[in-house]
Amino acid sequence: MPVITNIEDLRRIYERRTPRMFYDYAESGSWTEQTFRENTSDFSHIRLKQRVAVDMSGRSTKSQMIGEDVAMPVALAPVGLTGMQSADGEIKAARAAEKFGVPYTLSTMSICSIEDVAAHTTKPFWFQVYTLKDDDFMRRLFERAHEAKCSAIVVTVDLQVLGQRHKDLKNGLSAPPKLTAKSIANMMTKIPWGLEMLGTKRRFFGNIVGHAKGVSDPSSLSTWTAEAFDPALNWDRIAQFKEWWGGKVIVKGIMEPEDARRAADIGADAIVVSNHGGRQLDGAVSSIRMLPSIVDAVGKDVEIHLDSGIRTGQDVLKALALGAKGTYIGRAYTYGLGAMGQAGVTKALEVIHKELDVTMALCGETDVKNLGPQNLYVPKGYG
Ligand code: FNR
Repeated sequence: MPVITNIEDLRRIYERRTPRMFYDYAESGSWTEQTFRENTSDFSHIRLKQRVAVDMSGRSTKSQMIGEDVAMPVALAPVGLTGMQSADGEIKAARAAEKFGVPYTLSTMSICSIEDVAAHTTKPFWFQVYTLKDDDFMRRLFERAHEAKCSAIVVTVDLQVLGQRHKDLKNGLSAPPKLTAKSIANMMTKIPWGLEMLGTKRRFFGNIVGHAKGVSDPSSLSTWTAEAFDPALNWDRIAQFKEWWGGKVIVKGIMEPEDARRAADIGADAIVVSNHGGRQLDGAVSSIRMLPSIVDAVGKDVEIHLDSGIRTGQDVLKALALGAKGTYIGRAYTYGLGAMGQAGVTKALEVIHKELDVTMALCGETDVKNLGPQNLYVPKGYG
């Protein structure tokens, strides 16, 4: 077993182990992938202030996100088809998150259902919803999330229509994979993955198949998305979800201060500054670059989280220092899951935790809650 010291190590193992269709699904952005790339590279332009001769003993990364205690302010983002990266992947990721003490967010587009994940975990997780045309189906999803004791819903507002990812179309992405000469040839080279998949019955979209009406082919992601997602989403509808749900609501996919204001005005408990990891509007600014202006606009009125591009604990520290109360990782844990299952998700969390803790110490901070602009040199053009 190679020595794993960073998230890139996990990505490399993941790439070797996973059929191309599912690796490409995660490791891609829309169109030219400019935003996908800049989400990560823009973190590197922010520099850290080294401080010395400060007592760095007794450090803590503990914090809270939407009032819930977290071992570090890093949640697992909703990731569709996680159960195709590793058999029963959503259960494995949720269990790793629970053991580590960070929130897990289950995607609407998961392979394991809400009930599957609830049956294999003991702590409440968060449930992510897309806006679908079928109100009855949406209300039923909320009921199922309530029955599963989910402690918050994450309403993703940046996917009324699907941003095209060329690789997915070329690969004919579907869950389970359609058996073509190309997909069979590729899967045959990934024997451990294939054996794992044969060992589970969970290979379809567990929240959708058997639950959604009027959908012709829920095994095909792009077909289902085009048919079922509601292009007519507006703020009244988001406010209505809050009413239906009656609990905590996180609005995910905010990139502009005006939209952040609307989310705060409808009483969101938190917003996620996010461009969906560069998977939707290619050409959009990176989320870390937009964070300061959103913090300026609504930081006093609503809790602010950030995702898109985080690959290290240093990235987490930079987001927190710029005013985010919490962060999410999507690909970073998906790499771990695809590489090594549950142990790989734990490894990803350990790597990020260690990087965050050591960087915090070298910046002269002992408590993650005290990070702020005093820790950074921020270039012009951020915010
Ligand atoms: C996602 N993301 C996502 N978001 C969401 O709200 N529902 C979903 O089903 C998915 N599915 C999904 C699949 C894959 C493979 C990826 C990589 C991402 C977006 C996700 O929640 C998050 O915003 C990004 O992953 C953050 O960027 P990083 O951390 O991957 O760079």
